Amino acid sequence: MLTENETRSLIEFINKFFGLDLSENLKPIALSELNKFKKINRIKDLEDFLNKSTHDLRDSKILDLLEIFLIPHTNFFRNNRQFEALKGEVIPECLANMDHKNFIDLRIWSAGCSTGEEAYSILVSLMEYFGDEYWKITCGIMATDISRKSLGIASKGIYETKKIDNIIGQRLLEYTEQENDGKLRFKEKIRKEANFRQLNLNSKTFPFKNKFHIIFCRNILIYFNKDSRLAAENRIFKSLANGGFIFLGDAEVLSSKNQDFEQLGNGIYRKRI
Ligand SMILES: C[S@@+](CC[C@H](N)C(=O)[O-])C[C@H]1O[C@@H](n2cnc3c(N)ncnc32)[C@H](O)[C@@H]1O
Repeated sequence: MLTENETRSLIEFINKFFGLDLSENLKPIALSELNKFKKINRIKDLEDFLNKSTHDLRDSKILDLLEIFLIPHTNFFRNNRQFEALKGEVIPECLANMDHKNFIDLRIWSAGCSTGEEAYSILVSLMEYFGDEYWKITCGIMATDISRKSLGIASKGIYETKKIDNIIGQRLLEYTEQENDGKLRFKEKIRKEANFRQLNLNSKTFPFKNKFHIIFCRNILIYFNKDSRLAAENRIFKSLANGGFIFLGDAEVLSSKNQDFEQLGNGIYRKRI
């Protein structure tokens, strides 16, 4: 069991540093994981631990604690209409807007990529669109998440075949190899096209030199508290090039700066030039 003070400090800590809005009624599963966490790390009082922690957010224990509250749910081609729009409208428009028509440099970010299915779905869509030409252009995916556990799975690029529906399995065939234990693995040359990095979307600044043409930020900010969500959205907007596109999750709408964006449907918005 957690004391009231422990629960309060935990909720405040996760809220403040990671933006996540935890309900005050922590679920029994979270409570049981928290008790395990305290035991493994010999922590008597969570409030004390959080007060004493130097707030180095890259600290292993803090990240293990955070992991209890992360929701990694994702899928290949989740909301496939967006991937169809990516190939049908978004990529062609990005290419049309490029200054140097004979030098394609397409920058795409999967923010909150979880275990990588989103990033690989974007890559497969790009390869379906460009065919062999893909290997002649400068492109690739920056894929970030706060979860070390999810990023570990994403960079290995190994997934259980039985969790992938047949039609999607067919679509992935060309880009994957069968492992002998009912799993498939993205081919090395495909894996190399995704750059999986740890990034807290609630941090004050993002480490990108160049702006992105396309940003997927789906089903992450819905878990943020209102202020953190607005702040994160603004930082994400700043990372998007003028005329660039942002993809949101099914149940999401932009909460700010609407006048800077044109709504295209299916949760896709374009930043005005
Ligand atoms: C439900 S998944 C969404 C995955 C994918 N974008 C999709 O829509 O299928 C939410 C992801 O947000 C990540 N996340 C939560 N808080 C975060 C934060 N502060 N910074 C970066 N990622 C965060 C979680 O680790 C998790 O992988």
